Amino acid sequence: MVGVSFGGSAEEISLKEVGLRYEVDGEIATITLDRPDKRNAQTFATWSALADIGDGLPQQVRVVVIRGEGPSFSAGIDLRMFTPEGVPGQGSFASSAALGEATFADRVTQAQRGFLWLRRPDIVSVAAVQGHAIGAGFQLALACDLRVLADDAKLCMKEPALGLVPDLTGTKPLVDLVGLSRAIEICLTARVVGAQEAARIGLAELVVAPEELDEAVRDLSAALLATNRDAATATKRLLQGASGRTLTEQAAAEGREQAARIKALFGEGGGRAPA
Ligand code: ACO
Repeated sequence: MVGVSFGGSAEEISLKEVGLRYEVDGEIATITLDRPDKRNAQTFATWSALADIGDGLPQQVRVVVIRGEGPSFSAGIDLRMFTPEGVPGQGSFASSAALGEATFADRVTQAQRGFLWLRRPDIVSVAAVQGHAIGAGFQLALACDLRVLADDAKLCMKEPALGLVPDLTGTKPLVDLVGLSRAIEICLTARVVGAQEAARIGLAELVVAPEELDEAVRDLSAALLATNRDAATATKRLLQGASGRTLTEQAAAEGREQAARIKALFGEGGGRAPA
């Protein structure tokens, strides 16, 4: 069971009801979007449950894989959210329009919590994407540190075509990865970016045949786990901060992180060779 909150009220529902599966195997956690009959469409409950999983992630976990069951990674937000009836128990955009500005902002912040934890320095998040990743689906893939794509992957930031903006934390990673001009072109045309183009413009680390996707993610996870845990965390923290610092500031940050590493490895109680 996970605690899921919708605009203030909270209730306990099972991950199965939300359409998610969650498994922890040693240092790897796997979250599966599991509503393949609805192309893994996402609701407020999905995002709330994702945040809950992040909050309760066991300390030993170092790699978090997000994958989708069936032919598509995720067809984005559940389109029932755009109907007056909405998703049972979760309301709709029509009901959101009646919310005060602060309440609506709070709701967006709650939804975004489901995505933001995937950037924590102590984990590496990997999206395994096959078929469509549309809107919230594309943004969920962008929320991850790394993306492994099946060669049938189709990425689309559809929100502007629907009169909306992407607000599930996807705009910054998109700009960081492809640059402002390309991000504007992709979002404002709401066109489909195929797997090969995605790899070429920096949206994918790897493109494989669909039947090789799970194995490719397993291999990548194993490679990520082969490095020293604390060094990996410190290095990710350094890399994440790099674009916001000058070269001199970044050099100083490297020095600080290394001092902490050396102390941990060779200082009091240390004195062991790097693992
Ligand atoms: N929300 C709710 N149900 C959906 C969604 C969705 N986003 N996407 C697909 N489904 C449902 C369909 O209604 C259909 O249900 P049914 O079998 O009960 O009729 C089932 O999933 C299968 O969908 P198909 O369209 O038949 O599947 P197909 O593989 O041919 O196409 C595709 C997949 C391209 C993803 C298509 O379903 C689609 O365009 N979906 C809508 C995408 C969209 O606009 N998402 C919103 C983006 S904006 C945002 O996320 C904020």
